[in-house]
Amino acid sequence: MKRALVAVTVLLFASTALANGAETFSKKCAMCHGKEGVGGKIMPRPIAGTPAAKVLKVIKGGQGKMKPVAIDDAPAVADYVAGLKK
Ligand code: HEC
Repeated sequence: MKRALVAVTVLLFASTALANGAETFSKKCAMCHGKEGVGGKIMPRPIAGTPAAKVLKVIKGGQGKMKPVAIDDAPAVADYVAGLKK
């Protein structure tokens, strides 16, 4: 019973992190990368499915024309982007 409770708690936490990643993405990334990372006017190339480690690196350090983005939940956003379908 106790073990099941722990599993449920872990699952809840995991899905909350993903939900927040999605929310942050729509607020801080979607204007350039399009809804669900399919690409937008500013950056037409899709970023959906980009490996999380690379996304994290770009969020923190920027790349080319993209400036680093200051957000608290960068790892959750990176996981969210990595999990999007190309
Ligand atoms: C002001 C517009 C803008 C915002 C906001 C922005 N990006 Fe970008 N992003 C770009 C542009 C432009 C590039 C292409 C940079 C280059 O390679 O010259 C890029 C590149 C990337 C890449 C690398 C893609 C590749 O194929 O090389 C990733 C990953 C990425 N952005 C993720 C994010 C995430 C996650 C966020 C939100 C936290 C975000 N970006 C916010 C404009 C933006």
